[in-house]
This record gives sequence, structure tokens and C-alpha cells, in this order.
Amino acid sequence: MGDPWLIFQMPTLKPMVQALIFAAVAPWLYDRYTAFSPMVVSRPGSFQNMQTFISHEVKYRDRLRNCEDVIMVESLSVAFLSCDPGRDRWNTVMGTFRPEDPSIDNAGIYIYDYATSGLDDTARLKQLTIDEPDLHPLGLAFDASTSTLYVVNHARQRGSHILILHVDTSAFTSTLVARLKHPLLHTPNSVEVIGKYELYVTNDHYIRAAISPLLSKIETFSGAPGGTVVYIDTRFPENAKVVARVPFANGVAFVNSTTLAVASSSKSGLYLYNVKEDHSLSLKEVVRTPAAVDNLSVDDESKVLMAGHPFAPALIKVSESRATCNPHGSAGERESCKYTAPSWVAEWSAQDGLTDLYKNNGQGFSSSSTAVRDNNRGVGIISGLYESGILIFKI
Ligand SMILES: *[C@@H]1O[C@H](CO)[C@@H](O)[C@H](O)[C@H]1NC(C)=O
Ligand SMILES: *[C@@H]1O[C@H](CO)[C@@H](O)[C@H](O)[C@H]1NC(C)=O
Repeated sequence: MGDPWLIFQMPTLKPMVQALIFAAVAPWLYDRYTAFSPMVVSRPGSFQNMQTFISHEVKYRDRLRNCEDVIMVESLSVAFLSCDPGRDRWNTVMGTFRPEDPSIDNAGIYIYDYATSGLDDTARLKQLTIDEPDLHPLGLAFDASTSTLYVVNHARQRGSHILILHVDTSAFTSTLVARLKHPLLHTPNSVEVIGKYELYVTNDHYIRAAISPLLSKIETFSGAPGGTVVYIDTRFPENAKVVARVPFANGVAFVNSTTLAVASSSKSGLYLYNVKEDHSLSLKEVVRTPAAVDNLSVDDESKVLMAGHPFAPALIKVSESRATCNPHGSAGERESCKYTAPSWVAEWSAQDGLTDLYKNNGQGFSSSSTAVRDNNRGVGIISGLYESGILIFKI
């Protein structure tokens, strides 16, 4: 099908005016950051490891690295994993822009069969074939009714866009349906499927780190509501609209048909919205969390699972040191791979509130970014933004 693009252009004057206003208030925001940043309050000294699982184990340390997202498709008993060792040198969210190392920066989407009995670990994990040389995957979403996989791709050459792929889950192959690029999707992070063609997409920042690493960081630490949730119908991209503004909007997932949860990584919390008929959102409740929430998932009991970063400075240190990481390189390069950041996983429901499920100082499992769980099969998975392997737990 060649290389189909769905590109839509919009006038850019308003964003520029907004950027100027933002630049004007930035010093004040920076000041506020150093005084109050919620991202630096949970000091490592006061951090206690804990876990609530029957058992847990980190698997595929040698095959997987830097897996940001994991989604479970319970009807198929598989999980999709979005992993990018190249995030060490290319992280458009944290602002790392180093040249690629083609020998090790090989990103992939993997399909992990977590429930079929009688398979060994090697056979459980397969890489999905994707014809995309410039792959830097972040958020994933899957529409099982049409076997369509949406991949947020922070491509180096083409810029950030959403790959729309048709997936053959038994042959582990995919065909490109389209690449979706849109001015309202300028810092795409996560995708949630509403229906066959309709999506909610979060943009994590107003100021892209590629435009100004400093302003982007100030935006993060100030807790300014620069992130957005965008509603888009891929058949009519011209009608896309911003439906909510959230500080550092990250994961997005339906709790049920009328409630949408959005994670904030800077003003740590879970934002719960009522979903209206016309797809607009109205804020219902904010649940504050002790860690910057990265990604969300919702299990079959409508519990929201969230993973995140309890101590942002450690994560920043990891992302900075990783630029020179090469697990097969010189002693110095191997050393740069060794920094870790703490992990935190919790669940929330309206009845039971917020409950911690897993906390680790980073030595056992570093930089947790997403948690998913299949209650019927008693299996869950945690991914780590800058970590080798994935953590599989039993409940
Ligand atoms: C987070 O999870 C949701 C739902 O599980 C998914 O749709 C989204 O793409 C994920 N995003 C990232 C950045 O991991
Ligand atoms: C959806 O979830 C929200 C939050 O847990 C809850 O308040 C609401 O009653 C639920 N709605 C339905 C229709 O189940």
C-alpha cells in the first residue's frame, strides 16, 4: 500500500502567541518549581520496598530493553510490548537528542503470550514484523475488533506521528494502514481507542523538548497544564479537538463507558473525566498520588492500574547518563547503563481508593512505566522505561 500519510495542517499563529506568553511567565514558573515541585518530594531515603504479589520475576533481561508500554489483549491472552533501546539516545519527552547507534538502537513491538500453557519462555515472546526503519515506539493501543494496532512513533526523521497497523497476531506480521500526523498531535504520548476510527490521544507537553529543552523542563516542573487530550476521528482529522488540558498528560484509559482516566506525570495524579456524547470531557475528580503517574491501564474489574516514578530527579539522572550507555561497549559505556530509578505501582477504584501494589528502590526493577493485569488468569506485567526485561507477577 506504499506509504500513506494522513496529514492535516492548521494555521500556527495562535500557538506562537501562546508560546510567547509562556516564555514570559517561564521565570516565575521556574521559581515555583524549585519551591514546590511535587516531583521531588519523595526522597529516596524514606522509600520502603514493598510488594503484594504471590510471586514476581523479571524475565527477558537479554531480549528486551526500555519497554515503555504494555497492553494486554485478554481475548487473545497476549500482551503487546513497545520497547526501544534507542530511547537511551532519543527521548523526545525527556529531551535526549543524540545520534543513533544503529548497532544497538533496534526498537521493536513484541507479542508476549502470557497464558497458553506448555510454551517455554523463548516461544512465548515474538517480535512483530513492522516495515518501519525509523521506529521509536511509545504508547500503544489495540482495537481487537479490527486487529488494528496504534503505535505512537517518535520518529527521528519524520517527526512524531501515530502508525496505524493492521496486525496478524498469529503470523506476527503487520501491514501499514496509515501514518497519522496532525498539528493537534504535536507531542503524542498515549492512545486510547474509542471505536473503530475514533481515538483519544494525549500530548504530554505544550513545549516540545526539541524546540526548547529548558522551557519544556520548566513546563514539567511547574505543573503548568500544557498537556492535552485530543479527540480525533481518523476519517475526519480536520474535526479533531482538544477536550482537556492536563499538566504533563501521559497515560489515558477508559474506566468504563462514561469515565476516562488521564495520568499526570508532573502534578502527580489521576484525572477522572465524565465523557459526554460529543466526546468532550468534564473533570469530575483528581486523585493525588505519591508518585508521578506514567501510564494507566484498566483491568476487567474496572480498577485503574498505574505505574510511575516516585522520585523524578533519579529518573532524570538515568535518562541523562543513558546517552552513553552501551551494554556491549567499553567499561565506561557499560557503567552508564547502571543507574536506576525507583518504581511504583498502585491501583485505584472509586470504592477502595488508592492502594500501593509494588514499590522498589530501582535495584530490583527500575523506572516502572506501565502495569497491566489479567485477573482471570492471575497474571500481570510491569514495564520499565529504562530497564532490561519486564516484570511478570502472579496474583
Ligand atoms: C498507556 O496505556 C494505555 C492503555 O493501557 C495505552 O492506550 C497508551 O497508549 C499507553 N501509553 C503509553 C505512553 O505507554
Ligand atoms: C464508572 O466509573 C466511575 C469511577 O469509578 C464511577 O463513579 C461510575 O459510577 C462508573 N459508571 C458506570 C456506568 O459504571
